[in-house]
Amino acid sequence: MSVVLRLDHLTKDFETGVLGRRRQRALDDVSFELVRGEVFGLLGPNGAGKTTTLKLIAGLLRPTAGRVSVFGSAPGDRAARAALGFLPEQPVFYDHLTAEELLVYFAGLCGISGVDRAQRAASVLDEVGLGAARRQPMRQYSRGMLQRVGLAQALIHQPALVILDEPMSGLDPIGRREVRELVLRLRDDGRTVLFSSHILSDAETLCSRVAILARGRLVASGGIGDLTAGRAGRWEIVAASLSPAAAAGLQTQAARVTRIAHGRYSFELREGDGPEPFIAAVAASGGSLVSAVSTRATLEDVFVERVS
Ligand SMILES: Nc1ncnc2c1ncn2[C@@H]1O[C@H](COP(=O)(O)OP(=O)(O)OP(=O)(O)O)[C@@H](O)[C@H]1O
Ligand SMILES: [Mg+2]
Repeated sequence: MSVVLRLDHLTKDFETGVLGRRRQRALDDVSFELVRGEVFGLLGPNGAGKTTTLKLIAGLLRPTAGRVSVFGSAPGDRAARAALGFLPEQPVFYDHLTAEELLVYFAGLCGISGVDRAQRAASVLDEVGLGAARRQPMRQYSRGMLQRVGLAQALIHQPALVILDEPMSGLDPIGRREVRELVLRLRDDGRTVLFSSHILSDAETLCSRVAILARGRLVASGGIGDLTAGRAGRWEIVAASLSPAAAAGLQTQAARVTRIAHGRYSFELREGDGPEPFIAAVAASGGSLVSAVSTRATLEDVFVERVS
């Protein structure tokens, strides 16, 4: 499998305080790589170092130590720049322009020839769902529309590696779904996508692999299946018509019990325990079954456990 992007012991210190005398380590010895055609999620809470990582990859910051290589080149190199599209965290545009004018301008900057610029701008604006609004000045755009202009700008030169910093932010549920579909289309097209998010469900529905950052360090990485493997999940059983004595008896077979209302209880079983013996015990103690739900182990569990 061909490696598209490699981070090698990447470290970044920011100088802060008066005269830059203090140093803050925003990223500490982070290494991972992306192979062609995968969608990779960079996850972590606020301040974890996601944006810093993506800016280092895009060549907008220089590392204090370590190395980034994009298709074998350093981030600032011409070849790396041509291969990489970047959606910044808070894209800002000159808002008297229309989206079409802006995209035609960017197409020119990317070396797309005069006749092809308008066509390329139109097709990328359609791709991000802005086709109808493309002749409207961007000062009339909503936040979600501006986010789409940012996406269009990142894709204008059809880069092989697409880096998106919080691509879903500012979007409503339909917009989120559209961005998800766009990312999957890029993947199907053979492009490689790296995106950051603190919304884990986005990563679960999109990524083959993730890396989790906390306080600048890589605390976990791998396939979503691998990260959640070995976690059988739990069953939650709700039962009614139980006397307090019956509920107390059932409690010994559960990890946790919550009384919902008179005679009605929720039992969380121990990890790995199947529901059948417990349901039989409910019936044997005179209760009736209301529901039995399996709570799958999710990335959320891994995230909370590793970050805290
Ligand atoms: N230019 C800067 N100067 C000083 N410190 C900075 C600078 N940029 C980022 N930092 C610090 O580096 C750390 C990581 O910030 P970063 O923006 O990479 O986090 P993030 O994971 O993208 O967070 P968020 O989810 O809020 O976007 C934070 O502690 C932040 O305060
Ligand atoms: Mg950020």
